[in-house]
Amino acid sequence: MKMASHTGKSLSRAFHVAFKKSNHNHVKVKNICCIGAGYVGGPTMSVIAQKCPEIKVVVVDINQERIDAWNHEDLSQLPVYEPGLDKVVAQARGRNLFFSTDVNSAIEEADMVFISVNTPTKTYGEGKGMAADLKWVELCARQIAEASKSDKIVVEKSTLPVRTAQAVKDILHNTGNGLNFQILSNPEFLAEGTAIPDLENPDRVLIGGDDTPEGREAIQALVDVYGTWVPREKILTTNVWSSELSKLTANAFLAQRVSSINAISELCEATGADVEEVAKAIGTDSRIGSKFLKASVGFGGSCFQKDILNMVYICRNYQLNEVADYWEQVIKMNDHQKVRFAKKIIKNLYNTVSGKKIAFLGWAFKKDTNDTRESAAIYVADYLLSERANICVYDPKVPKEKVFTDLDYLNTRSSEENRKLVSVVNDPYEACKGAHAVAILTEWDEFKILNWEQINDLMLKPANLFDGRNILNSSEMSRLGFRFHAIGKADK
Ligand code: UDX
Ligand code: UDX
Repeated sequence: MKMASHTGKSLSRAFHVAFKKSNHNHVKVKNICCIGAGYVGGPTMSVIAQKCPEIKVVVVDINQERIDAWNHEDLSQLPVYEPGLDKVVAQARGRNLFFSTDVNSAIEEADMVFISVNTPTKTYGEGKGMAADLKWVELCARQIAEASKSDKIVVEKSTLPVRTAQAVKDILHNTGNGLNFQILSNPEFLAEGTAIPDLENPDRVLIGGDDTPEGREAIQALVDVYGTWVPREKILTTNVWSSELSKLTANAFLAQRVSSINAISELCEATGADVEEVAKAIGTDSRIGSKFLKASVGFGGSCFQKDILNMVYICRNYQLNEVADYWEQVIKMNDHQKVRFAKKIIKNLYNTVSGKKIAFLGWAFKKDTNDTRESAAIYVADYLLSERANICVYDPKVPKEKVFTDLDYLNTRSSEENRKLVSVVNDPYEACKGAHAVAILTEWDEFKILNWEQINDLMLKPANLFDGRNILNSSEMSRLGFRFHAIGKADK
């Protein structure tokens, strides 16, 4: 598929030469490269490869360790834990799914390149703590420009601020040896923990592209990829900016629902109402809907906070201060919920946790993932550690070192101090042994079926149990002798 360079006039023709045409006179993608083998790139490409055996999919990453883990013979060692992912990888890996660190070769070979690198909130300079750091995306664009010898469709998979595609396009067109690059936005809506079913049966697939003949052709090429298994009516096509903004908006709305129900949870605790009863009552209204109404210790994950901060930053740039304030409140409410949970623990332990052992069940930001980014557990722990508590963590999927890296990253205290105050164990009963309090931070199913009577016996009395996810039955827990504290319910 090697091509000569083209002038602007022959772009459309060049595009046709570059890609093998299908019977329907469409550009047909044969080789996909995805830069970034993370929580999004890895599972998404695995499913594409599984569903489209005729397309060769190469997932590349600069992180050798991560790629080695993706190639590990033992599928329990994959770097991303997602139920069902191991089976998908087993089916496609080595057939038409490959993981590699050879970024340039994979780009060169591909007709379509996905950018799926991380875009964390900036930790320095202008927009610090608010704007997305697009350093990796820009580097990817430059690398694509350098490594390309033929025209490409470049697909933004990373969540990006509105108008990033323009910047990517600019870089590619100015450094890309006169090749034709079509930029598409194809935001990912999968939720971690349910990534495989979300990818196999998405509510919708969103593809944004230019409204030009070449743009429409590129959109169609990606529609055809998803169309292999997603019904056509679920594939929405828009302009690039609508697509970029839709992703931010979807996450902002979802996060807003969690903050809304969490706000009500505090009111429930004050008034004696039960947040689960309220959620059920309002959720049966079809205009409101029943999903995403679970009160919790606070939302986490790599997307919600980052995307809202991003949106707030963009709004401020356009001087839309009321809009910015409105969305910022979702984050403030979430921070408040985490602090409120920590304060509740302290208050119920006679206003001091200094030197006391507090067991943390769960560290991941939600169940069925080993991802801990922005997990509420980190912030609740940090608050309690500043009160000199001793924390013992058990999480079924999060490795010990990750807990320390998460705490060290906050820079609240030295790494040595974190290691002195925190321990991480492989057994929930060991975590709870001799504890003054147990706090549930993640809703892992296995926590529901622990032997809570035994845990009560192992703990110091009075045994305080704080259920940050409302997974346990309050009457049952108080019958077992716990002082039971749920979210959005009167204490038992
Ligand atoms: C995704 C989205 O892409 C991001 O925008 C969103 O905010 C979070 O979800 P995710 O897959 O979860 O990112 O991120 P991560 O698990 O950190 O994976 C990104 C990978 O890209 C890493 O493995 C990193 O090594 C790799 N990377 C980063 C590169 O290969 N090249 C780079 O230049 C930068
Ligand atoms: C989210 C979006 O759902 C997904 O579409 C997008 O692609 C990425 O961001 P994710 O962050 O992986 O997905 O998980 P999600 O299920 O949305 O949960 C986010 C956080 O909200 C978790 O901490 C979860 O525990 C919390 N949450 C969710 C609640 O506290 N209550 C709820 O009712 C729902």
